[in-house]
Amino acid sequence: MKEKLEKLKQEILNNLNKAKSLDVFRELEIKYLGRKGELTKILKGIASLSVEEKKTLGKLANEVKMELQAKFRQAKEAVEGGASGKEFVDATLPAGEKIKKGRLHPITQVQNELEDLFVSMGFMVLDGPELESDYYNFEALNIPAHHPARDMQDTFYIAKETGEETKSPIGDLVSGVSREASDLVMRTHTSPVQIRAMQKYGAPFRGVAPGRVFRSENPDANHDHTFYQLEGLMVDKHISISNLTAVLKEMLSGILKQEVELRLRPGYFPFVEPGFEIDVSCTICNGPGCPSCKHGGWLEMLGAGLVHPNVLRAGGIDPKKYSGFAFGIGIDRLAMMKYGIDDIRLFNSGDLRFLEQF
Ligand code: FA5
Repeated sequence: MKEKLEKLKQEILNNLNKAKSLDVFRELEIKYLGRKGELTKILKGIASLSVEEKKTLGKLANEVKMELQAKFRQAKEAVEGGASGKEFVDATLPAGEKIKKGRLHPITQVQNELEDLFVSMGFMVLDGPELESDYYNFEALNIPAHHPARDMQDTFYIAKETGEETKSPIGDLVSGVSREASDLVMRTHTSPVQIRAMQKYGAPFRGVAPGRVFRSENPDANHDHTFYQLEGLMVDKHISISNLTAVLKEMLSGILKQEVELRLRPGYFPFVEPGFEIDVSCTICNGPGCPSCKHGGWLEMLGAGLVHPNVLRAGGIDPKKYSGFAFGIGIDRLAMMKYGIDDIRLFNSGDLRFLEQF
């Protein structure tokens, strides 16, 4: 009887392992544990055994029955979970690799803060194309072709394909589609958005345009070939330098979380008159000089001025009725000052040891 019981138990377990659907489980349950089931029959037979046999076999038979009922339940739950789409959690599986959460790049963080500050001062936030026309990047900003001011912002000109095949003088070994200069450039500053904004919204206007700019530049600790600027433009009646400095002070103390001094030096930008280079008192040494401010106590942070009448005209605004201020600040330089970073090239390095600190 004991062997019969063990054999039946093994047979039931084998069938349970193979079963994949609820129907099969039901069939097995009836076949073995039902009223006329094979295990039930054995259990009933125990009644006719001697007292001694009843004791040992009865105990064993009950254990087998309970074990099998539990197995039936577990197997059914697993199949039901899968069939109804409920998640089946196997707590015995290894935990797996923890997924690392990403974070915003420090430049993006500073850009977001700047946008919030300007929105709180009633400015719109605008976007402009990174691949810009020569007209918007230079011409409309009062920088005609062959003007020496173009040299201040040497850029990457985009060639266009002419569609003609070129033949090399040494046969067909080197040939290709010939290219000629197009009127497209990678924008060298965010100032072209000034013109686009004035053309679209007219006057009065207040807006900022953050974004990426490109220059053919030899990178060093303070210069990169790809960096970020935020352009500001305010056009209204009787706009003066005082409006400009008030807005700049609000922006800089908001970002740097401390009062800063501004130093305005005359600066030449063909699209403003008068024009300034604006320095900010070094927040790292607070004045006496340190390596970050090249021991001068000041850091050059932005270009600014009152919008040139030709630029207002290019934007469709009458310079006799309206005046305006404009500025362009380097977001990378601002982030360097905010976080005490001594090399601009770290921003584009992709070095996680650097990026994970923000
Ligand atoms: C301009 O780009 C003007 N468009 C700014 C302007 C706007 C003037 C409106 C007047 C009116 P500038 O080339 O100086 O100007 O650049 C402005 C700021 O961008 C600089 O003060 C500096 O903070 C940042 N900058 C310039 N070149 C680089 C560079 N290679 N790498 C990182 N930041 C730079």
